[in-house]
Amino acid sequence: MRMSVIGTGYLGAVHAVCMAHLGHDVVAYDTDASKIDMLSAGSSPFYEPGFDELLGTVLATGRLRFTKSPVEAVSGATVHFVCVGTPQLPGSDAADVQYVDGAFRMVAENADCDGLIVGKSTVPVGTAQRLAAELATSPLGLELAWNPEFLREGKAIEDTLRPDRLVFGVTSEHAEKTLQEVYGPIIDAGTPHLTSDLATSELVKVAANAFLATKISFINAMAEVCDLVDADVVTLSRALGYDDRIGARFLNAGLGFGGGCLPKDIRAFSARAGELGASHALRFLHEVDKINIRQREKAVEVARAAVGGEFLGKSIAVLGAAFKPNSDDVRDSPALNVAAAMHLKGADVRVHDPKAIENARARFPTLGYFDSAEAACRNADLIVLATEWEEYCTIDPVAFRSVVREPRLLDTRNAIDRQYWSDAGWQMFGLGRGGPKA
Ligand SMILES: NC(=O)c1ccc[n+]([C@@H]2O[C@H](COP(=O)([O-])OP(=O)(O)OC[C@H]3O[C@@H](n4cnc5c(N)ncnc54)[C@H](O)[C@@H]3O)[C@@H](O)[C@H]2O)c1
Repeated sequence: MRMSVIGTGYLGAVHAVCMAHLGHDVVAYDTDASKIDMLSAGSSPFYEPGFDELLGTVLATGRLRFTKSPVEAVSGATVHFVCVGTPQLPGSDAADVQYVDGAFRMVAENADCDGLIVGKSTVPVGTAQRLAAELATSPLGLELAWNPEFLREGKAIEDTLRPDRLVFGVTSEHAEKTLQEVYGPIIDAGTPHLTSDLATSELVKVAANAFLATKISFINAMAEVCDLVDADVVTLSRALGYDDRIGARFLNAGLGFGGGCLPKDIRAFSARAGELGASHALRFLHEVDKINIRQREKAVEVARAAVGGEFLGKSIAVLGAAFKPNSDDVRDSPALNVAAAMHLKGADVRVHDPKAIENARARFPTLGYFDSAEAACRNADLIVLATEWEEYCTIDPVAFRSVVREPRLLDTRNAIDRQYWSDAGWQMFGLGRGGPKA
């Protein structure tokens, strides 16, 4: 099937590569010419495990091309995937849908045959219906569908090729059949696929993110209580997680969520509920957001207490800059947020991340960046483990003692073996685990 992919960021580039891998003939387009140059040359503008390899393989088949020309992307295609960004509007909680509107308009203007335009971006409920009404005036037989994306950065290829489920928001049997054909091999592998109206398909995505964010903030609220009574949130979380009505995933207390999706998506969902006259229904999401931000502030205060109550003159190594491991994405990264706050309060902050240094430097140029965890930690008064990359979780605490000035570790992700490090002579700090109070 000949298809176009509009937008080649984290979502679009992965989608384009995976569609070509499934056997489709894909032309992908982005307004950012530098991304197109890199992808055409077989190199990725971001870090995603397995992406570069699959990109190379599908480019060699000739089934995937990248273009700077919207006409070349769209002409001849019968399915168009819109994968552009929906960031938070400056000064508002709402989503900025101008890129989605622009992409739909671009496809409608350049399409030269009947086809299906499929939205994959995360949008406020009602967007698809509005765009469908606009498309109805197009002289060609262009139809709209919504197919929300649930991939996780760091596991994006796996999630795209072997998703938990597929959701098709459609208004006709033809659109449903087309999407079933697009995803044929994935459906044949037994993946559950649900068909719905447009609004439900838009809501599935934001509801899923709202639930996940709530689960994380729930356990972080428990961490706040644990700190007050010297209880241990890690044990609490494990005990809760064994209850299969609750489940252990997304129940790790720590620095909370960040990235380009969860924070902006829950804010946009609340804002949309307000527009619909139902702000009361999602008021709890404000609290979810506040708990999440509070964890970052709390981490800074625990770090301050750990170095004796004053940041000035203290050297603090921050391990991790990406919002999660196995990604170079630093959008709304809790790790960088904490690093920047400690820097502002006078600490000498030394950051390491295996993949996200360049992105971090572009956002926070005044922090110190180092090529290795060891270099960042040299003579540190405190190490803050802020993103749980595997390489940090396997550091040998005995060998590392000679690297730092003071053997103190604040594990904001509750990711390392506390006892093991303690036994090696380290003073351990955490969130929801006791230690110095803010
Ligand atoms: N990143 C994720 O893990 C993820 C997961 C699920 C859903 N989503 C959703 O997918 C959407 C994209 O997210 P992302 O992380 O890939 O964003 P991103 O910022 O990495 O990429 C968006 C891309 O769209 C391009 N673009 C903007 N307007 C365009 C236009 N008119 N024509 C062509 N290209 C255009 C930008 O240049 C950019 O490269 C968002 O709505 C996001 O919420 C993202």
